Amino acid sequence: MKPEPFRIKVVEEIDLPNKAERERLIKKAGYNVFQLKIDEIYIDLLTDSGTSAMSDRQWAAMITTKQAYAGSNSYYQLEKAVKDLFGFKYFVLVHQGRAGEHLLFSSLVKPGEIVPNNSHFDTTQANVRLVGGLPKDFAAKDAYNPSKTAPFKGNMDLEKLEEFVGKNRDKIALIMTTITNNAVGGQPVAMENIRQTSQIARKYKRLFFIDACRVAENAYFIKTREKGYKNKNIKAIIREIFSYADGCTFSGKKDALTNIGGLVGMNSKRVFEKIRSMQVITEGFPTYGGMACRDLASMARGLQESTRESYLEYRHEQINYLWEKLSKAGVPIVNPVGGHAVFIDGKKFFSHLPQEQYPSQTLAVELYIESGVRGVELGTSCFGEIDEKTGKLILPKLDLLRLAIPRRTYTANHLAYVAESVIKVYKRRRKVRGLKRVYAPLLLGHFLARFELEN
Ligand code: F0G
Repeated sequence: MKPEPFRIKVVEEIDLPNKAERERLIKKAGYNVFQLKIDEIYIDLLTDSGTSAMSDRQWAAMITTKQAYAGSNSYYQLEKAVKDLFGFKYFVLVHQGRAGEHLLFSSLVKPGEIVPNNSHFDTTQANVRLVGGLPKDFAAKDAYNPSKTAPFKGNMDLEKLEEFVGKNRDKIALIMTTITNNAVGGQPVAMENIRQTSQIARKYKRLFFIDACRVAENAYFIKTREKGYKNKNIKAIIREIFSYADGCTFSGKKDALTNIGGLVGMNSKRVFEKIRSMQVITEGFPTYGGMACRDLASMARGLQESTRESYLEYRHEQINYLWEKLSKAGVPIVNPVGGHAVFIDGKKFFSHLPQEQYPSQTLAVELYIESGVRGVELGTSCFGEIDEKTGKLILPKLDLLRLAIPRRTYTANHLAYVAESVIKVYKRRRKVRGLKRVYAPLLLGHFLARFELEN
């Protein structure tokens, strides 16, 4: 593995609470890792969102920018970086990705209209529903087969999409593609798939937006896995991705290496003006859009750093390191390695537990008790819907535990410890009891859910 293309200048101390303490804390948290406090955690792989370590240059830019309600200089730095990389005619700043989703869907989706996506992430799905829309997923068949290896398992199922759009054209508000496809294991989407999705959207005269949270990581996969891109640079690949779209939503908390921030990009002046007028009411004046000006400065610099090839290569190798250790030990994981995390197939890991007993949520709890490591369930609790008529839980196809790797934050030693801990739980898996959910709000219920141990 290549060494990190950076040196460590500032460190943060972490402590591991003892095992009895961990057992007490997770019980108190209702067996929901979202309810744990950061000081109760040793290695936090809950998310790669807003948890990156920032560079000296990002911090420097934050200090030197001038704070202003209107016309901050960091806005113009960010505008240059965004125009250079995204290439859309217009953009609107928001404090994070989901605020952008809300502005976009409130502007474009009418009640009863449908939004097809390869896979909606949880916040995207919730924001479509919030305005009365219907999110519908069209992930390629391979995505639902965790053990299968294919280079672009995040792809849209083009045949199914075209058939659906052809039949329901007038009910479709817009078409989206999420890159990388977080809900199915951080799997990338091929350029060819993006291009063809765009063609379908154009054929039926629907707008096509990209959920671009992890666009740089997706571009790296295109470069290394798709024919014809080996010699293209990352920025050119990103620009080509966006050239097929009418706009994007973007959370700066991932591939802009910053702790907060986001934007919506678009080519349509009409859509831009609609979204901007809402931005001013809910997010703030256009030149700060829900952020402190220093956050704009760190985002501008972060966009440059996250698109450096040496950084993306290191990032990929680091995630691959954890993936390989688990793969070699026979732990059932999502193949091949994805962009921002390693995903464990909870249903296979605890094959003695029915899906109704939340296997990946159970694994999140057991891993915390074993080691103080926090992962996150992306499965039955996160994506399971409640049938409005019967009140019953509709089980999603996948039930995964995600070990998301914050950018530039942990070393290979941390990840070796994580791998050892997962393997220890795997060895004692047959003795583990499942969970029952005793409380969950309707939208994004997994954040606040509470569980009890099954008998
Ligand atoms: N789209 C995708 C694909 C995401 O992964 C996220 C966030 C969002 C949109 C929303 O962005 O958090 O800035 O509001 N994902 C985080 C995660 C929270 O842990 O994967 P946000």
